[in-house]
Amino acid sequence: MSKYYLKCVQCGYITPDFKTWFSQNQICPKCGSKHSEVWYNTDYKKLDELIKHYPDSFWHYFDFLPLESDNNIVSRHEGAIPIEQWSFLEKYAQEKYGLDIKVFAYRNDLNGGTGTFKDVAASLAASLFRENGVKQYCVASTGNTATAYGLYLSLADVNASIFIPNNALKASEAMISAYGQQVFRVNGDYAKAKAVAAEYAKKYNILISTGNIDPIRVEAKKTMIFEWMRQLKGMPDVYIQAVSGGTGPIAMDKGLREVSAVHPELKMPRMLLVQPDQCDPMVQAWEKAEKNGFPEGFENEYPTIKNPKTSVPTLATGEPATYPIVAKLVRKSNGTFVRMREDKLPDYGKLVAFERKIILGPASAVCIAGFFESLKKGLIKNGERVLLNTGEGVRRAPDYVNEMIYTTKKVECVDDCKPHDMNNYREMLWNAIED
Ligand SMILES: Cc1ncc(COP(=O)(O)O)c(C=O)c1O
Ligand SMILES: [Zn+2]
Repeated sequence: MSKYYLKCVQCGYITPDFKTWFSQNQICPKCGSKHSEVWYNTDYKKLDELIKHYPDSFWHYFDFLPLESDNNIVSRHEGAIPIEQWSFLEKYAQEKYGLDIKVFAYRNDLNGGTGTFKDVAASLAASLFRENGVKQYCVASTGNTATAYGLYLSLADVNASIFIPNNALKASEAMISAYGQQVFRVNGDYAKAKAVAAEYAKKYNILISTGNIDPIRVEAKKTMIFEWMRQLKGMPDVYIQAVSGGTGPIAMDKGLREVSAVHPELKMPRMLLVQPDQCDPMVQAWEKAEKNGFPEGFENEYPTIKNPKTSVPTLATGEPATYPIVAKLVRKSNGTFVRMREDKLPDYGKLVAFERKIILGPASAVCIAGFFESLKKGLIKNGERVLLNTGEGVRRAPDYVNEMIYTTKKVECVDDCKPHDMNNYREMLWNAIED
């Protein structure tokens, strides 16, 4: 019996493996749908055994990933990242709201490849391409997927053509280019970059990432669920993430369905998905649906923001094509969408840097802001466990780090200099996020 197979979500058609999936251009030959999911013939009791041991990477879960031979693994120790308990946020929730909660951060900034939660998908993609002899690939991305695929596909000797929108960070472009991969900076927004990439794939008959439902991305990211089982001994009650296309929530749902037969006690956490106010089409759609009492088919109505002006390029998905899928998952989880104020981003970054001595990237700061907003709105209840998915470190956003400078004094001579007490900054930093 083979290790896995792909099954069409629309019509149930079975594709036996990725070699066939690639040869049929990543669509179901029966109904034309792009949306297939991977299922395994492995006994899930094996998973209970695996979660007793510390992983070296997400490849620890090889039995539940769609690769045939472990000789083809392309890895930089991604996906074995710690969950930290952040007591400074617990203390805040207690003092300000009288809530006794546990707050955890899932430290995707510590991923070995490029320091974002896109590394696992890129590692699986590169490994699958190596196994199946794929030599050319293309992908459109706002930046983090672009950089991760740039690195990992290089490691596997696969040529990647990477389409980024005109607002993507210079440092993302630089890294992809430095690896020797082809960058196409498209004069337009992310939707335009996707459109050009799709035409390019067709013109040259090159495989292209199928987006947030891409079974490669979903399979890699669903290992989050396994890691939470290992580290938290179950699911959190609340999950907070900055959302762009929604691969995170889609993969969580897939992972939970996968383990449901052996672990029916594991429930989807309430998903609180955060967007910055400069690019918040999902929040807008949700608010409208909520006002109308979530009518039948509410998930199919959403706005498109052309050329979003957000300063967080990673989250610049102005046309949220996956909203119909993501919104239904959020509704099922009893969650909601949350908007944060983008002008406050450096304040959240400074606070975390001061309290934890970690410099997070802007998309992670959006997630932290979402936590504070959720508390304010009463979305977190007493006794709950809250997991913050801090999706990225700061290495590609130097402008954002520059905004965190606040202790500098310009001096001429030693008479202008005095020692300081760090703790004097604390009050100012906490006050900054209050107003
Ligand atoms: C750091 C970070 N946070 C959040 C997101 C949003 O991810 P998702 O595809 O789950 O919406 C991305 C990617 O777009 C990201 O790189
Ligand atoms: Zn089908």
